[in-house]
Amino acid sequence: MDNFIGTATSDHVARIILNRPDKKNALTAQMYGDLAQAIHDAEAGEQVRVLLLHGQADCFSAGNDLKDFIANPPGDRDAPVFAFLSAIASARKPIVAAVGGPAVGIGTTMLLHCDLVYAAPDTRFQLPFTSLGLVPEAGSSLLLPNLAGYQRAAELLLLGRPFNVDKAVQVGIVTEVVAAEDLLAHAAGVAAALAALPPASVRLTKQLMKQSCAADVGKRIVEESEIFRERLKSPEAQEAFTAFLEKRKPDFSRF
Ligand code: COA
Repeated sequence: MDNFIGTATSDHVARIILNRPDKKNALTAQMYGDLAQAIHDAEAGEQVRVLLLHGQADCFSAGNDLKDFIANPPGDRDAPVFAFLSAIASARKPIVAAVGGPAVGIGTTMLLHCDLVYAAPDTRFQLPFTSLGLVPEAGSSLLLPNLAGYQRAAELLLLGRPFNVDKAVQVGIVTEVVAAEDLLAHAAGVAAALAALPPASVRLTKQLMKQSCAADVGKRIVEESEIFRERLKSPEAQEAFTAFLEKRKPDFSRF
């Protein structure tokens, strides 16, 4: 079986690595399952204090693997993608993320559940749910308006155009922009600094910041996922996915 999710733990930091660069780290059902397991392991690991999530300095993730989504659509609430979302949304330990290159779809929305996000200047974010005939996931329809303000979130979620690091910092998705050559080392340094702090204090601080909206976020993830699963079967999504696979522009004029 292919192993596209790497893990390595040392000095109280559990690294979780997206490692499918030839497909721009597009995420399959199997990868979501492996990611969920990696987060559960890190949460349960007594030695682990911080999670560090990254791909390559020039590629974070192109989001859902569109081919796999057609072959293995998430059928119910137990689907691996929802196991991953539930794990990342409810993690008690802090998550540091390093992103560069494409960060599309869930490659952007998963960052809303991370605590510190470092991005290379070339990072290209995009939330292309409407242009794929889908709806936002990962609680982003709640988290992004809360973070960015409604109009800024609406621009990103309704139009779905790519946006750069400057906008990502402005709307609050990214903590800091770091040169690509320093990105992974910088994020690892921050993870090490967090791991050197009193761990219970760090976890409680995260919990205090998250607790007022945690239940709403969990509920929204479920609501979104029900609509998302329906949308996957829609003619609009089928046209968008087929167009991607056929390397052509989708045509939504008949809908
Ligand atoms: N699902 C499946 N395969 C994907 C993918 C995805 N989301 N994103 C990229 N790939 C594959 C491409 O099909 C290509 O495969 P091939 O070499 O077998 O043809 C390979 O990864 C490289 O991608 P490519 O498009 O050539 O790279 P790029 O640098 O020109 O563009 C992206 C990168 C991310 C901008 C572009 O691949 C893209 O738009 N992908 C789709 C993003 C998307 O809609 N995600 C779903 C969000 S819900």
